[in-house]
Amino acid sequence: DNDSKANVVWNRTSVTQGMREQINGHKGKCVWFTGYSGSGKSTLANALEVELNRRGYHTMLLDGDNIRHGLCKDLGMSEVDRAENIRRVGEVASLFAEAGVIVITAFISPFRSDRDTARKLFSADAFIEAYVDTPLDVCEQRDPKGLYQQAREGKIKDFTGINSPYEVPREAELTLKTTEYGLHELVSQIIKKVTW
Ligand code: PPS
Repeated sequence: DNDSKANVVWNRTSVTQGMREQINGHKGKCVWFTGYSGSGKSTLANALEVELNRRGYHTMLLDGDNIRHGLCKDLGMSEVDRAENIRRVGEVASLFAEAGVIVITAFISPFRSDRDTARKLFSADAFIEAYVDTPLDVCEQRDPKGLYQQAREGKIKDFTGINSPYEVPREAELTLKTTEYGLHELVSQIIKKVTW
């Protein structure tokens, strides 16, 4: 038969996630940032990792722009490609959590169903969806990469918030209001959830 998957078994490893976590001194987890382009995902993710690293946690940061240069360089911005992007990121993040690492992801991840698919790969207390709640008009004013302007000029198709949807999280563990709080305060709000 042609279905190669039918012949693939699941090998159980002798060293478990719990044993890896014991060596690390903390649990493996995922902090999943989601929000518009220019909302502050990368800035928050980076500041969070700096602080966790300073406190001795084992961390890894997966950032949209970077991952799209390697693991996901074959993918564009259509709905199907974004779903595949987030599927791969979820799987990789879950492997890091299995390794006992606090993995931080910073992707627009605009579709609820894709985020929920990622969530299902983790145990209930190990997935922290962090909605970077920056209004679209603020993101567009900031326009750190000039992409909103290009999208408005019709030079980028499928641009999130302009001509491609963003589905606001309904049950995010954290909602981060970047127009009300500074970076330092937001990082401590996240740290409280992650290290309790
Ligand atoms: S997604 O939706 O989660 O798959 O997107 P992600 O992997 O996070 O990539 C978003 C970054 O790609 C740049 N970019 C675009 N964003 C949105 N829409 C379109 N059409 C687009 N084209 C390129 C943009 O720099 C995003 O980075 P951030 O950090 O979010 O601004």
